[in-house]
Amino acid sequence: MCGIVGYIGKNDTTKFLLDGLKELEYRGYDSAGIAVLGDKKIDVFKALGKLHNLEEKVNTSSSKDYELGIGHTRWATHGQPTELNAHPHLGEYSYVVHNGIIENYKELKEELINLGHKFVSQTDTEVIVHLFENYNNKLNDTTKAFHSTIERLEGAFSILLITKAEPTKIFFFKHGSPLIVAKGNDENEVLFASSDAPLIGLANDVVYLEDGVGGIATTEGIEFFNNNYSWSTLPTSKQFAQKNGFRFFMEKEIYEQSDVVVDCMLGRLSDNEILFDEIDKSLIDGINEIKICACGTSYHSGLTASYLFERLSKIKCNVEIASEFRYKDPLLTKDTLFVVISQSGETADTLEALKMAKVAGLKTLVICNVDNSSMTRTADATILTRAGIEKGVASTKAFTTQTIVLWMLALYFGKAKNVLTNDKLSEELHALREVPKSLIIDDNMHEKTKRLSKRYLHGHGFFFIGRDVFFPLALEGALKLKEISYLHAEGYPAGEMKHGPIALADPELFTIALMPQNLLYDKIKSNVEELSARDSTICSISPLDFDLSDDFIKINETDHYMLEFFEMLIALQLLSMEISVRLGNDVDMPRNLAKSVTVE
Ligand code: F6R
Repeated sequence: MCGIVGYIGKNDTTKFLLDGLKELEYRGYDSAGIAVLGDKKIDVFKALGKLHNLEEKVNTSSSKDYELGIGHTRWATHGQPTELNAHPHLGEYSYVVHNGIIENYKELKEELINLGHKFVSQTDTEVIVHLFENYNNKLNDTTKAFHSTIERLEGAFSILLITKAEPTKIFFFKHGSPLIVAKGNDENEVLFASSDAPLIGLANDVVYLEDGVGGIATTEGIEFFNNNYSWSTLPTSKQFAQKNGFRFFMEKEIYEQSDVVVDCMLGRLSDNEILFDEIDKSLIDGINEIKICACGTSYHSGLTASYLFERLSKIKCNVEIASEFRYKDPLLTKDTLFVVISQSGETADTLEALKMAKVAGLKTLVICNVDNSSMTRTADATILTRAGIEKGVASTKAFTTQTIVLWMLALYFGKAKNVLTNDKLSEELHALREVPKSLIIDDNMHEKTKRLSKRYLHGHGFFFIGRDVFFPLALEGALKLKEISYLHAEGYPAGEMKHGPIALADPELFTIALMPQNLLYDKIKSNVEELSARDSTICSISPLDFDLSDDFIKINETDHYMLEFFEMLIALQLLSMEISVRLGNDVDMPRNLAKSVTVE
């Protein structure tokens, strides 16, 4: 969720670092910083907010030539977005930038404090540089110290480290989070970046580091710690690089979902419980009801959560569309936990609903993707979804991470209230751990949605139907389709079709039926049979073959309905995108929409 860059060579070090960070700014822009080394001295520049703040600082206070440097643009995970928490982080004589999360940072920090190390930030990253110096002080060998440091770290990390103890070197390592090392176009130049974009045009030969690979770079070349690496050629188009080779940001973001849920769960899933450093168990004390408020896709994740809160935490939960809530003179009681959900943290209606709850004295919590947004600044507590910047206007990975956070929260409250048996909890934790796998996109499924898309370009509308959590998923499927294809689509509870909408059924009414094996299969099956009997065209998504379907998207058989939920979500997102592509629409910037709706 952060971006990192590094440089050794004869060209302008600060220029490479700042230009590179600009390319990565979409990864996070709470703060940014660089550490640059020249004449055996390290200068550090950090600034809050957008990158131009850092640029201004560097340009007004430095005209020196530097031999090497490292840089970072931050998307806060541990600790507030402040200058102290901005990278690079300092020990006594070394600096580190880090992308990822150090899961065991608390234990390490305690150990290092006991050894006399002084910490200035709230971040997990700072332990890396102290650990390194601790070993180096003992061993008097920077390479051994770096190896010993890496061995102690748990979690996901890509790291660049520089030190006055070895002022010609950049130490690097990758585990979990991405890192690329490149031979620059100029001789004796080595470049680093956490994704392609900063390197385009400046290098041809790159190594996309595998997990467990690290090394040391100097102007003499790159020494890798093992042979598990190979050189490849960098793409030449920046647009292409930013989209990682995908046609659209939306497509890239659909494919990213498996990785971002790993980020979202990092440090929050232990063997037998859910951990949220950012909230306190007392949040649920005295609470008899949860009220969720949100808009659009975020409302759909809220609706999904309402089933999970009642089922797993045994807390009454209701969900409201923020624009409705605001003007209904809602009755708010202090035994209600008020939860808002928002990708951007800026949606006007949701923000106003949050303010109303605060004025009424309710405890408030925001589930949000953007730290330091208006909502995170307003709510009593924040849980970040860590999806990384979402560029496609049609929300995809934001929904997935919101739903994961809410599912984890339902378990967290369930455990806090003692209403979950240990067996049930471990069953749920097991399912959560399987989610990244169920979000890996199978080529056959993508191919199938591409082929099917040509049959769904006309007709008089779509009904997406499902039951239980598959009803909000149906709403989300319909919303995705309408916003990028401009075709009429509705999400409906499957059991409700016979109370009116079934009158529309004919071959030109397309029904997308969500038929999970693990939840109410027979019930939804009979609802779909009713539609089939009226000759509606049926596309079912299920792990089980269904004879009455005209079209069928098969998902894997699993043992938990939420795994089916996420696999179906992928099918729905891909189907909408492929229909939109066939219709020649702008997938990433559909007409009439904006990414962040800051007006009423
Ligand atoms: C749909 C979509 C919108 C947003 C809605 C709320 O794909 O993106 O429906 O979900 O505008 O936005 P946030 O979550 O930023 O409050």
